[in-house]
Amino acid sequence: MSVTIVSDKNLHFPVLIDEVLSIISPQNGGTFIDCTFGQGGYTKKILEFPNTRVIAFDRDSESIKVAIKFKQKFKNRFEFHNKKFSEIDSIKLPKKINGIIFDLGFSYSQIKDKSKGLSFNHKGKLNMKMGHNKVSAHDVINKLQAKDLEQIFKYFGDERNAKFIAKKIVKERGINNIDTEYLVNLINSTKKNFTKKNKATKIFQALRILVNSEISELITALSKSSNLISNKGIIVTVTFHSIEDKICKFFFNTISTYRSVSRYLPLNRNKELAFSILNKKVITPTNKEIKINPPSRSAKLRSIKRTNAKKIDTNFLYRKFKNLLEIEKLSQKL
Ligand SMILES: C[S@@+](CC[C@H](N)C(=O)[O-])C[C@H]1O[C@@H](n2cnc3c(N)ncnc32)[C@H](O)[C@@H]1O
Repeated sequence: MSVTIVSDKNLHFPVLIDEVLSIISPQNGGTFIDCTFGQGGYTKKILEFPNTRVIAFDRDSESIKVAIKFKQKFKNRFEFHNKKFSEIDSIKLPKKINGIIFDLGFSYSQIKDKSKGLSFNHKGKLNMKMGHNKVSAHDVINKLQAKDLEQIFKYFGDERNAKFIAKKIVKERGINNIDTEYLVNLINSTKKNFTKKNKATKIFQALRILVNSEISELITALSKSSNLISNKGIIVTVTFHSIEDKICKFFFNTISTYRSVSRYLPLNRNKELAFSILNKKVITPTNKEIKINPPSRSAKLRSIKRTNAKKIDTNFLYRKFKNLLEIEKLSQKL
């Protein structure tokens, strides 16, 4: 779960911002793509350096309000696109791109927005749409078959009670329309609370991943970004759940390591690799940051640097996560 802004309504705490800045070095100027503009926390810090330019994306139309203010202040050094980051190549991009940044998940203001229904503390209709979505969590919970719900809970939420909860939902929805409060109570009634986490956390994560097609969004955007970034350009990801991190870790490791076509053939180490890993060990927030902004505790930063401009084939990424991509397609049944 990503929350970059804490309690006080005007206080913005972009997660791992100092670490991100030290990796992308905006003090040298350049053009950066902020794929997850949100409240503009990262973008603002980058634009504070002269000779920088930011092209920002966010699927949530609420970000437009912040973007308008940025445009007034930073003029042609800033542009905003209310689009999904998987559409990164749908706009005219400059030839030179020095950095592409992903601060995944959702912001504190999105959680606070009752209409989005992202929090299990809110009452009302299930939703979870971040923007530009086809289905809502309400459709998923009230319409998909038990076996489909089970897969979603199991693979996107790592939920051990997936089958039982899915069956219970299908049984109960015949009698009652399941809204947020009803779903939370239903999940609570199926489990003993062994952990500090709210019992509904895993199911809510699973629903959010499905509703927002988070797996295909990330895979498509990483794949496109790796061929859009300029020579010596940097891609940075800040992830907040294990599936996101697994995808970034696998992709970054694979494109920066010699791979064998066959295990019977020797590695061709003469070929120049397209990327190098900048931080081999994942970067996590300091205790100080976690104290100021507790939800930052699950953040993981990874980064890679382009070493040559040759086009790379990223099909291996789609193949590796084929199963998760198939589960995501269950939403197409709606
Ligand atoms: C953690 S917040 C980013 C906060 C931002 N770095 C800041 O400092 O204000 C994540 C943002 O990414 C956006 N987002 C998530 N998935 C997206 C996608 N596939 N395409 C575009 N924006 C997305 C969300 O709407 C949210 O505003």
